[in-house]
Amino acid sequence: MANYSPGIRDNSGQLLSHLYNYLLSVSLRESQILTQLRQETAQQPMSGMQISPYQGQFMALLLRLMGAKKVLEIGTFTGYSALWMALALPSDGTLTACDMNEEYGAIAHRYWQTAGVADKITLHLAPALDTLDNLLATGQADTFDFVFIDADKVNYGHYYEKSLDLLRPGGLIAIDNVLWSGAVADPTITDPDTLALRHLNQALHQDDRIELSLLPIADGLTLALKRF
Ligand SMILES: C[S@@+](CC[C@H](N)C(=O)[O-])C[C@H]1O[C@@H](n2cnc3c(N)ncnc32)[C@H](O)[C@@H]1O
Repeated sequence: MANYSPGIRDNSGQLLSHLYNYLLSVSLRESQILTQLRQETAQQPMSGMQISPYQGQFMALLLRLMGAKKVLEIGTFTGYSALWMALALPSDGTLTACDMNEEYGAIAHRYWQTAGVADKITLHLAPALDTLDNLLATGQADTFDFVFIDADKVNYGHYYEKSLDLLRPGGLIAIDNVLWSGAVADPTITDPDTLALRHLNQALHQDDRIELSLLPIADGLTLALKRF
């Protein structure tokens, strides 16, 4: 296959590092508190789970574009993506965050407090499927403006269905890691995470409840807009 971006990406499709650094140098507007959280998260053994700063800035832009007020995040880790989003919300905006790990949650809370957005965010430390079921059971279907899915991949199909129920018509779901470092396009790779992502990508392609865009940024980001 021809290289679709000669001189921009390496053979694995990654942006060349000097260009990535250039991109950040001319576009990233990361506040000091976000930088500090990113630096602390980099000390974590699982730091690779955090989204990249330019993806955070992109999602913040999406929220501002939509005038989003009510956001759901499935998979919060140390709170970096949530912090980008909370900073983009108006003062009466809310972010419902889902994770299961108390240690990560404690780091997140510390930074959310310092950034002055802790009162916008409610972190539910429980299996995300339970949290989503509770949101649906408490009458919150059709109320969220934006959902970010970034937790365990095997449950992505369930997260997508429940998120679609929770989303208002015209609301947006962003789904992270949909290219899974390229594994989804290699049929010889059949581990449960890859199968789940491949299945979801195929299902969304046929799903007429949404407008669809799969962007090859970071590890692949799908945007699904709930049709009216
Ligand atoms: C990829 S990380 C999230 C990264 C975060 N969005 C960021 O950019 O900083 C995935 C998170 O999902 C959490 N997680 C995994 N399985 C979960 C489940 N069943 N319910 C809730 N959280 C889960 C993990 O504890 C982990 O913190």
